[in-house]
Amino acid sequence: MPKIVIRKMRRSDLNIVSELAMLANPFTTKEKYCKHILDELKENPDLSFVAVENGKVVGYVQAEVRNGEKAMLEDIAVAKEHQGKGIGKLLLDKELKTLKRKGARIVLAEVHYKCASAIPFYYKHNFRITGFVQDYFGIGHDTIILKLVLQ
Ligand SMILES: CC(C)(COP(=O)(O)OP(=O)(O)OC[C@H]1O[C@@H](n2cnc3c(N)ncnc32)[C@H](O)[C@@H]1OP(=O)(O)O)[C@@H](O)C(=O)NCCC(=O)NCCS
Repeated sequence: MPKIVIRKMRRSDLNIVSELAMLANPFTTKEKYCKHILDELKENPDLSFVAVENGKVVGYVQAEVRNGEKAMLEDIAVAKEHQGKGIGKLLLDKELKTLKRKGARIVLAEVHYKCASAIPFYYKHNFRITGFVQDYFGIGHDTIILKLVLQ
């Protein structure tokens, strides 16, 4: 398997990351979501990572810490042709380790209903469904909330 490097996200990654973001955010457009990714990157440069294979960004993860102990996993996505090779695991492990170091105890993730096939991935990493919110991402765009208590 080619070597995967996990490194901090850079502004120059924004274009490819915005494209990958469409896999996890089917309620919006790349152009609109790009601003959100950049805002998160500016606010949480230590919590934005990309996975790189042969010099090409193939996945990313972003998170933020809210109210001290509570963290939010903003997004995680891996390019379709690279899924199922352990890249999501590398990204999530890196993010969870970093969040733990920053004092987070609880990590929440919001999964758009169209991305429900990602839920077994979260369960593999000990997240559990804790609820749902109707119209969370806009009218008709319901979300499933997952929760992890960091050990
Ligand atoms: C969810 C996602 C990030 C997982 O990344 P990935 O690189 O494919 O995951 P990995 O290869 O690291 O998988 C890790 C484990 O989870 C399991 N897994 C991953 N996706 C799964 C799925 N859809 N169904 C069942 N199990 C799954 C794998 O079997 C693997 O277990 P193993 O190590 O025992 O084989 C990726 O599928 C993706 O980008 N999906 C689209 C975007 C999305 O829905 N993001 C989540 C909402 S924010």
